[in-house]
Amino acid sequence: MKKPLSLVIVLIALATFLSVAWRESDASVQTGKSKGGGVVASYKQHCAKCHADDGKGIESLQPPDFTDGKWQADNTDKMIADGIRNGKGVMPGFKETMSPAQVNSMVKFVRAFGPKAAKSEKK
Ligand code: HEC
Repeated sequence: MKKPLSLVIVLIALATFLSVAWRESDASVQTGKSKGGGVVASYKQHCAKCHADDGKGIESLQPPDFTDGKWQADNTDKMIADGIRNGKGVMPGFKETMSPAQVNSMVKFVRAFGPKAAKSEKK
């Protein structure tokens, strides 16, 4: 009779572990969303098709290279925010789809592609 009981205990322990793990991953998805309005997912959805996941951009469209220290240094946060809000050339504006807070976190996200030196220079 000992074996079935220990099996039940193992199963209960496993079920408890799984439900905690599931709840934790669920919670982290939610906190990820509240931080900066899901900026990573938003970039992937709205920007990566032209600016690419690495921020260098799709060459044929000739977007700015966000990893370029000179570009980062030449552009103020306001210029980047205005670019995102109003669009430029083939780039659509996002003021209809993004809240000011989302635009701000997108500016930080664009900054994060730059080399460290350019980032600290700005602040
Ligand atoms: C349809 C392709 C496309 C999409 C989508 C797109 N961009 Fe662009 N983006 C461009 C191109 C091309 C330029 C260069 C425009 C120019 O200088 O004429 C540009 C320029 C920019 C600039 C510089 C603006 C300036 O004033 O020089 C920023 C910042 C930028 N994009 C960020 C983003 C962000 C953030 C997103 C997503 C929310 C995004 N872009 C979506 C193609 C795109």
